[in-house]
Amino acid sequence: TVLRVAAISGSLRRASANTGLIRAAAEICRESIPGLEIDHIDISSLPLLNTDLEAGGVFPAAVEAFRARVRGANCFLFASPEYNYSISGPLKNALDWGSRPPNCWGDRAAAILSASGGSGGSRSQYHIRQVGVFLDLHFVNKPEAFIKAHQPPKKFDDDGNLVDPETKEQVRKVLLALQALALRLQLGKPAADS
Ligand code: FNR
Repeated sequence: TVLRVAAISGSLRRASANTGLIRAAAEICRESIPGLEIDHIDISSLPLLNTDLEAGGVFPAAVEAFRARVRGANCFLFASPEYNYSISGPLKNALDWGSRPPNCWGDRAAAILSASGGSGGSRSQYHIRQVGVFLDLHFVNKPEAFIKAHQPPKKFDDDGNLVDPETKEQVRKVLLALQALALRLQLGKPAADS
């Protein structure tokens, strides 16, 4: 089974380390995890959430396209910077658009990476988990990957590409845990007609 992983970076910066983590995850899957395929979803063109924009039950085109890709995913990978001890505004905006009825996130596995300052983004990760309770996401608990983006050894180049082999191995282990959890959830599901 090849599982499609919808991967979302919470940073819109061109040289974002978090977007670099998603690119690295895609490369790792291509090279060594044939059961996972990364669908990197760019959230930069989503409008700021305003429920006036869905009047009449029709979402703006960019939102509808985003929601369709979320619905079509088998599981999720989030990479978010920590902004003021929480997740980024763009990521919260994307989570909120996907949550508008009918919720597009429900009942699937999700893993979190974060590249940030001080704590490596741990506080932002716990905020994603809190939001995910209402979205009905099932998170990989371990291993945790809090990547201290600005501390030696140098982990990202000037374009935000992940260059540190140890961090790549951390990302690979998170992906394997995501794959295992996603498969367990799928296997645990009753047949549609039972
Ligand atoms: C930050 N940064 C930050 N870092 C951290 O560890 N804890 C924090 O609370 C914050 N707060 C914060 C607020 C705002 C508004 C900005 C712009 C930045 C630093 C930030 O997480 C760090 O630079 C990351 O490397 C940014 O991620 P990208 O853009 O490289 O993916």
